[in-house]
Amino acid sequence: MPNLLSRGLFNLFFGARRKAMEPLPGPTPGILGTLGDFLGPQPWDVCARYGREYGGVTLIWMGASPGLVLNDPVLIEEVMETRRLEFEKGNISEQVRPTVTNDTTFIALQGDEWNEKRRQDPLVQPWSSDWLAAQVGPLQRAVDASLGSLMTATSLDLTPTLRQLTFDAFAHATLGESLPDSAYEDFLLMARGADARIQAKLPLRFVSLPKGFEQAKERFYGLFEQKVRQARQALDPRRVDLMSWTLRELPDIPDRFLAHQLGTFFYGGVFSSSTTLVGAYHQLQKHPAVETRLAAEASALSARPLDFDRLRDARWAEAVAYEAMRVLPAVRVFTRTPSQDTRLAGVTLPAGSLIMISNQHLHRDPTHWKDPEVFDPSRWLDGGTARDPLGSGHFFPFGRGPRACSGGAFAVVYLQTTLATIAARARVHVDSTDPFEEGFFFGVVLPKGVTGRFVSRRPHLVHLPPEVRPTPAVESA
Ligand code: HEM
Repeated sequence: MPNLLSRGLFNLFFGARRKAMEPLPGPTPGILGTLGDFLGPQPWDVCARYGREYGGVTLIWMGASPGLVLNDPVLIEEVMETRRLEFEKGNISEQVRPTVTNDTTFIALQGDEWNEKRRQDPLVQPWSSDWLAAQVGPLQRAVDASLGSLMTATSLDLTPTLRQLTFDAFAHATLGESLPDSAYEDFLLMARGADARIQAKLPLRFVSLPKGFEQAKERFYGLFEQKVRQARQALDPRRVDLMSWTLRELPDIPDRFLAHQLGTFFYGGVFSSSTTLVGAYHQLQKHPAVETRLAAEASALSARPLDFDRLRDARWAEAVAYEAMRVLPAVRVFTRTPSQDTRLAGVTLPAGSLIMISNQHLHRDPTHWKDPEVFDPSRWLDGGTARDPLGSGHFFPFGRGPRACSGGAFAVVYLQTTLATIAARARVHVDSTDPFEEGFFFGVVLPKGVTGRFVSRRPHLVHLPPEVRPTPAVESA
């Protein structure tokens, strides 16, 4: 809590503003408002603490500007769904714009701009579900190929390892082939540029992009453009990658526009999907019975290559992915700002003020979830996914409403396929099950220092009877 002088100064200068917000609870502001709470801890931890201490809505002060932290499903639904046109994504759009280009829905303004970009998004076309169904095989082959070289390594930092594995698998889903290492390096350099802007303490005009950013951008999207041109010249009806499928279905789509869609696919999903995998493996190490069941399921499925139909039988892999996204969601804070003065939660919020929405508290809300701190994938079986569907009040790892993640369905298929593919051949041993340190990169949680290795399965370990059930998980997540 700020000292007496600081609190007094805030009241002296901004007392009238504070009075107007009076019905709302929140931490006591000092001369810098309540910004001090966010210096040090991660923003999602602060948002979750506010949820526990103040309930569904917390009044914060960014200096003299009021803002809200929402932990109430009803208010979150208002901001992200029913009244979403009144709330823009805010600063994050400007921060990532140089990296993700102007052509994708990612940073589009609500309303016409988003509608127009969404209309052309390859992920939400009438044929997109057919494309998705065709990706299980290519994803499995790509993951399997990466796994071959990983199994020989004795110690790996799992975050960058699974990130690169994910990048490669995404290349197969989007282009039907691997990309050179130099493309991965360009991708990371551009992500670092966006991250510097996201984490900047100074106004963006004072934040420079990393050396070589523009060249990396030209090379990265240029490579996609070149692939699109080549594919267009020799359209192969047998190819199932997103680029070929889009060219067949939307022949008038401009090369550059499609290249931007494909390149941004990686920014949308590589960090978030690989973070989810690291979280899942950390939890599997803590809960061996859950891992054993995953191995048994994967073994039973491994007699033939996976496809979309057979993936439906990977119920435990799906439940592990869902539980990882509940306990350790990769994107934990969303921001919105009202484009005009607006009434919300019983107060008038000025245009441009900050609204922070976090899923961390609601994903572990003890009034909603049984044993919320326990990593227990079985909660997702027997109707669990229908009780708490993606994008509902207490489970929204992909956000909520029309602007929820357009890659969410693909991400679930990717996670399920990868968990099943790796489990059939290897156990991911994580060296330490202490709570891992979490940082922040490109708007996504970044697990730090999670080291481990891929241990080849001896055949007798995976041929367990399918009815193997995990013993009740008792460790806390
Ligand atoms: C586990 C993996 C993923 C997680 C946790 C995740 C999470 C999210 C979240 C929370 C949002 C909404 C942000 C907001 O409302 O402010 C979002 C939006 C988005 N995501 Fe994902 N995402 C994942 C994978 C992917 C993948 C694989 C793609 C590939 C294309 C993708 C592309 C996008 C795009 C384009 C948007 C913006 C949608 C719009 O504004 O219309 N994401 N994602």
